[in-house]
Amino acid sequence: MNSFSREMIKKIKSENSIRNVVSQYVTLMSKGNHLVGLCPFHNEKTPSFTVYPEKGSFYCFGCGAGGDVITFIQHIENLNYIDAVKLLAERSGVNIIEDNGDNYYEKLKNKILDINKETARFYRNYLKSANGKWALEYLLGRGLTTQTIEEFGLGCAPKDWNKLISYLKNKGYTEFEIAKADLVAKSQKTGRYYDRFRNRIIFPIKDVRGNVIAFSSRRNPEEKDSAKYMNSSDTFAYKKRYNLFGINLAKNHCDDFMILVEGNMDVISLHQAGFKNAVAPLGTSLTEEQTKLITKYTKEVFLLFDADSAGQKAITRATKLFETTGISVRVVVIHDAKDPDEFIRNNGPDAFKSLIDTAVGAIEYKLLCAEKEIEINSDTSKLKYLSRAAEIIASSDDVLERDIYIGSLSEKYSVSRSALTEKVEGIRNNMEENKGEK
Ligand code: GTP
Ligand code: MN
Repeated sequence: MNSFSREMIKKIKSENSIRNVVSQYVTLMSKGNHLVGLCPFHNEKTPSFTVYPEKGSFYCFGCGAGGDVITFIQHIENLNYIDAVKLLAERSGVNIIEDNGDNYYEKLKNKILDINKETARFYRNYLKSANGKWALEYLLGRGLTTQTIEEFGLGCAPKDWNKLISYLKNKGYTEFEIAKADLVAKSQKTGRYYDRFRNRIIFPIKDVRGNVIAFSSRRNPEEKDSAKYMNSSDTFAYKKRYNLFGINLAKNHCDDFMILVEGNMDVISLHQAGFKNAVAPLGTSLTEEQTKLITKYTKEVFLLFDADSAGQKAITRATKLFETTGISVRVVVIHDAKDPDEFIRNNGPDAFKSLIDTAVGAIEYKLLCAEKEIEINSDTSKLKYLSRAAEIIASSDDVLERDIYIGSLSEKYSVSRSALTEKVEGIRNNMEENKGEK
């Protein structure tokens, strides 16, 4: 288990350009056909750390550190060669197949998938039992049909400390394997394992192929002091930043677009109402890897985040993340409800369709936010808004899009089109220069 094929290393290196990787740790500036920055391996005030993108290597003239992208990760992350390669593989989503050796991780991963499948079945059955009645009633009370509950494979975790672990051990799995699936935790006091998910509603998380890779859970509403949602941590079978809740279903219904929402319940509600193209991140804010996953399946994404200020912040973050993916982003602002689930329950699918139709482009959304933020009641505030608006418009790489917004703003605020255009193009020229210096 200590060698990778030449092709594998080549692929990993090509997917992880040295410039890209080093930039995550060091601010680099262009200097001729190489890049320089302050060395992360020793203390210095003037940059002697040099990256050669064409050669795929780096060298520090101050301390002598040098090598390729793998060496760089070894040094900076304090990893051995194997783990550095694995980190890079993971970072770029390359599936590593180790050539010789015992395939230990691959076997463990498959074991975890088996355990998860068995566990999902256990939770599903428990939901149907007398002890799981509270969970079923809760879900029905939230407007889900039994068909939806079955389609998503929702379940219930017992209140007891070891029902799942006993069940799995009976099926022949070891405590070690069950722990690797992150389904149990070890008591500090007794050294014994106990079930991690207790007295909770269970949402299996599936990958694009429909394997159960992890679990999300919601507390029993009677139990006010435990975390509202609790999810599996990363395992050998699950990397949360690469997955989306609902992707196994949404991937077949997104020829036109995908809808990105914040919570599991939003996904399930939308799905039930016929919007089968909804997905949600998994208990974290959206990651770059998740935007890439979306890009694999569709050309357009509708952001439908909660109506609170956290939701608005998340929109700004998400639009930024999508900027480099080439995917077009539309923003839907929810009103009269706190989230998509509540909106659809109160207003029904037709109203939801109309809500979707009010989506605006990312630029328009930012202009609206700026307009709300800057109270325009004087020439000074008008100037402030228009300067901000020019910056927003300048961030679009589409000349037609810029022209359209320049046109409507100049009309709305009675300023000349040529002045606004000059302002926007000036900002863009500055941006270009700054890029060149980097
Ligand atoms: P409901 O109240 O069941 O409708 O859930 P919601 O989806 O509306 O929940 P909320 O808006 O509070 O949270 C949205 C998402 O954030 C959830 O689906 C979770 O993924 C995540 N989240 C919320 N609370 C917690 C928490 O306590 N722990 C973790 N890890 N994630 C949480
Ligand atoms: Mn909700």
